[in-house]
Amino acid sequence: MAITINGTCYDPPVDPRVSLLDFIRDHAALPGSKKGCDHGQCGACTVLLNGRRINSCLALAVMHDGDTVTTIEGIGTTAEPSPLQRAFVAHDGFQCGYCTPGQICSATAMLQEIADGWPSDATDDLASPPSLSEDELRERMSGNLCRCGAYPNIIDAIRTVADTPA
Ligand code: FES
Ligand code: FES
Repeated sequence: MAITINGTCYDPPVDPRVSLLDFIRDHAALPGSKKGCDHGQCGACTVLLNGRRINSCLALAVMHDGDTVTTIEGIGTTAEPSPLQRAFVAHDGFQCGYCTPGQICSATAMLQEIADGWPSDATDDLASPPSLSEDELRERMSGNLCRCGAYPNIIDAIRTVADTPA
């Protein structure tokens, strides 16, 4: 079994019960993805799987042989942060920072979902492109909890990027 994470192929022997999150953290030695609840409730473990956001604690690594994963380490670096990473810093989109890797991975995919025209539960008009209203952003980020309550600044950071033309 082999999984490509941030452009590097990892193929260590792995117990079939290992979650994708534990594979990333313990076998690939990438600790950026966080374990909050370990059962799909907090979003701290969010990564991009083949470009789509998932809770990596809910997936078994063996289910993803041949797949491509992007973690927070692959979104940007300290020297070259992504626009969302810059915006989270500029807007104080965190306090303790434990939820932040998941928030940024989730927001990265979420903005692409909006660009691709995917509706959310907050979308009023399914015939029109989704808006970037606060209700839309909050609904779409509702799978990522922040126990520090940094939500207003998180939304400000995401809005800055969403409102910036590519
Ligand atoms: Fe995966 Fe909480 S650690 S959702
Ligand atoms: Fe502490 Fe979100 S910044 S949990």
